[in-house]
Amino acid sequence: MAQAKGDIALIGLAVMGQNLILNMNDHGFTVVAFNRTVSKVEDFLAKEAKGTKVIGAKSLEDMVKLLKKPRRVMMLVKAGQAVDAFIDKLVPLLEKGDIIIDGGNSEYRDSNRRAKSLEEKGLLFVGSGVSGGEDGALYGPSLMPGGSPAAWPHIKDIFQGISAKVGSEPCCDWVGPDGAGHFVKMVHNGIEYGDMQLICEAYHLMKTGLSLSHQEMADVFDDWNKGELKSFLIEITRDIMKFKDDKGDYLVEKIRDSAGQKGTGKWTAISSLEYGVPVTLIGEAVFARCLSSLQAERVEASKQISGPKTSKYTGDKKKFIEAIRQALYASKIVSYAQGFMLMRETAKELNWKLNFGAVALMWRGGCIIRSVFLGNIKEAFDKNPDLKNLLLDDFFKKAIQNCQEAWRQVVSTAVLLGIPTPAFSTALAFFDGYRSERLPANLIQAQRDYFGAHTYELLAKPGTFVHTNWTGHGGSVSSSTYDA
Ligand code: 2AM
Repeated sequence: MAQAKGDIALIGLAVMGQNLILNMNDHGFTVVAFNRTVSKVEDFLAKEAKGTKVIGAKSLEDMVKLLKKPRRVMMLVKAGQAVDAFIDKLVPLLEKGDIIIDGGNSEYRDSNRRAKSLEEKGLLFVGSGVSGGEDGALYGPSLMPGGSPAAWPHIKDIFQGISAKVGSEPCCDWVGPDGAGHFVKMVHNGIEYGDMQLICEAYHLMKTGLSLSHQEMADVFDDWNKGELKSFLIEITRDIMKFKDDKGDYLVEKIRDSAGQKGTGKWTAISSLEYGVPVTLIGEAVFARCLSSLQAERVEASKQISGPKTSKYTGDKKKFIEAIRQALYASKIVSYAQGFMLMRETAKELNWKLNFGAVALMWRGGCIIRSVFLGNIKEAFDKNPDLKNLLLDDFFKKAIQNCQEAWRQVVSTAVLLGIPTPAFSTALAFFDGYRSERLPANLIQAQRDYFGAHTYELLAKPGTFVHTNWTGHGGSVSSSTYDA
């Protein structure tokens, strides 16, 4: 019989899976590798994993026999059907207390379902967000595991061992029950959409409004990367700005301006609508990609519809660049505040206890949105774990206050120049709405009651719903009151 010496098995030998295996091996863990197309196991052992302690398995039965107990089986396979197919095959081979880990890009509701069904069978399930791309997987990803809490002590050493570190702190902690890990990963991706859109709006303003050269823009991003905006995305944007193709041209300008998407931003926006949380910036970022993808139609429209007389800013360039930086920073604060609002509301609805400081730390390093800024968010939640909203934290309150004037200048200038800044603008509108003691929703309530007898509350008597006969002939019968 095969000797059970494997610390963990990993199924799925695409590049992410391979790199995670190599990372685990480098940290002293013995990994058993398996793949649906079994020939890839041999290839992997002969090439990338040559000279390592990685053990190849020829079948799932073989793989399971090679594992120490409780068995830990991690999958990195295509999200959806493939995950369920492997789970179905694994269940009869495993014993009570064994752990199935899904490290793929699964939808969190699928993970909710899988956690429940495996727990009913006496097995443990972990759905883990894995971020950082191929390099992250190899050298230190951000890992966001959630699911059956009893699994955590058994996977903690491996997960925190291979994850990215900030100082000595691992960018990996237990997120929460059910699909909480995959949910947090989804919000991470949504925030990534927002961050990218914000940077694109800054680029658009500098290129079109200020006619900066690519070298000048690269210098601006380089400069920004030295301060509070220091982040992976600003850093790669700097490098993209100055990247030339083999003809000596700036490659970025030759790329078709039609953004792709794989759906996680859209899922975040859908969740926001579902839970009724105004995550407006991620929503705009998703729609901005949709609008960009109407590229051929836009080219046609541009020939027929004109904007303002000029799209050129004539004021002080240097000052405006600094104003753009501040607008980006303030908008980013709003975006993260919205993302954490969504996590807070979802946690409430699904009865999860999420540790928001730990989430910020998991995103602080290893992943695409890694930044200095997430360190500030971590500090805010460390100071007050029950913080209702990031915008109410002293550090961020002050930060946004300092940027406010410049932010308004940038948004209003962009409007006058006809340069679209949907993310900057929606962030500012949210900010102004959030800080308003009174919004015009009293009129909405009056209108609803006028045409549909939907009733309203009086400010002086919240909780008591009344109907007014606005026209004198509508009657005084109200419709039932409910909120969707
Ligand atoms: P393969 O090499 O046999 O195609 C990324 O695509 C990983 O997911 C690969 O390891 C791939 O296995 C696996 N995968 C994709 N679809 C699958 C399916 N329907 N069943 C099992 N594994 C699948």
